[in-house]
Amino acid sequence: MEVIQVEGGHRFTGEVRVEGAKNSALKLMAATIMAPGVTTLTNVPNIADVHVMGKVLKNIGAEIEVVNEHELRIDTSGVTSWETPYHLVAQMRASTAVLGPLLSRFGKAIVAMPGGCNIGARKIDMHILGLEALGVEFEVKHGNIHASAPHGLVGDTVTLNFASVGATENLMMASVFAKGVTTIDNAAREPEIVDLANLLNEMGAKISGAGSPVIEIEGVSELHPVTHRVVGDRIEAGTFLAMGALMGEPVTVRGFAPLHLGLVLKKFEQMGISLERGSDSCTVWRDRPLVPTDIQTLPFPGFPTDMQAQTMCLLALAKGSCVITENVFENRFMLASELQRMGADIVIEGHHAIVHGVDGFSGTQVRSPDLRGGAALVMAGLIADGVTTVSDIYHIDRGYEGFVEKLASLGARIRRVELPDETD
Ligand code: UD1
Repeated sequence: MEVIQVEGGHRFTGEVRVEGAKNSALKLMAATIMAPGVTTLTNVPNIADVHVMGKVLKNIGAEIEVVNEHELRIDTSGVTSWETPYHLVAQMRASTAVLGPLLSRFGKAIVAMPGGCNIGARKIDMHILGLEALGVEFEVKHGNIHASAPHGLVGDTVTLNFASVGATENLMMASVFAKGVTTIDNAAREPEIVDLANLLNEMGAKISGAGSPVIEIEGVSELHPVTHRVVGDRIEAGTFLAMGALMGEPVTVRGFAPLHLGLVLKKFEQMGISLERGSDSCTVWRDRPLVPTDIQTLPFPGFPTDMQAQTMCLLALAKGSCVITENVFENRFMLASELQRMGADIVIEGHHAIVHGVDGFSGTQVRSPDLRGGAALVMAGLIADGVTTVSDIYHIDRGYEGFVEKLASLGARIRRVELPDETD
């Protein structure tokens, strides 16, 4: 069993660079299916989820050349299959991002139904309802979703119940070749959606309004391959900034747009954290106690659910009490019980976490509940008394490249260690 061990209380300061955004890279890779030929993606993070999406593409006939650690050349001219099997979808729910591109290219797709996920129900009903409006018919057979557009895809207006990132992306990709105009109303506005629309437009699509709640897609007949740089990872950046804010000495994070963390940085300021924003960097430091501040997660430009765990770790050490409200995912407070093992005082009531600040954390053994929760536990270990051992670190590897190395470069006493599995 591989774990991360971190010894708390050491100086933590310096500069770190983030990679391209996981949540963008995965969708851009899926979009290459729609432009037969060789698309080059640069600034791709070298993380487990990207490797899974690589397997999904190879499974349907794409060839992927790894030019260097962060550059992929994806040749989709030989894609002949439209089926994504369960063993890949089960590894990563974001594999469902190929549904829209496969429908666009082949007019049909077979995608295994995503199983349960430990951060809430994560249904795909909005993807299905939206695609049905464009003429797609669905049938579920033996755990697989069979989608087909027997009369071709035809543009329509789709109003989403909730600004879902995945549904907006699948609909945007499915409507690129649809006849006429498709309008997505109440669309998600995340920077990764804008990155995907930019790639598709560079390939020849006609998409306007990405980044606003109304996206319009005018159908075109074909796309051509391009070279595209993945937008910087705002959540990786936010994670390192939260760590700098926790530890106090200046930490500069480069390679992302601070505008993409607008509300997070505003909330950090309300919490007593000092900030200096650059065009593609941000520096944090803190010379006073953390001020309790209520947080509620919402789709962009609201406070991102993907920064909730790291912020909970900060607020658990604030001078007083506050409430964190999780509006995007059910069941995304699993970090709380692990932080309690380290001494935090957090009460969960439905989708609210009532956080009473404590004076410090004490190092112990804890388990990553999910990707961001795992990062937040390592973060807690930076300041905890003694050694914190974080297990189930495959969650962290899904989304953070060189996590341990980057933290060590900032001064953390941190290492990966192979421990005997005591459950055997
Ligand atoms: C994406 C991100 C994830 C982020 C989330 C919200 C990727 C790979 N993942 O996930 O890191 O936390 O956006 O910013 O990009 N829902 C439905 N029906 C649907 C679709 C969604 O009920 O058809 C619900 C989900 O269960 C969830 C909420 O809507 O409760 C938000 O989901 P969504 O925005 O779609 O998130 P993902 O695209 O899965």
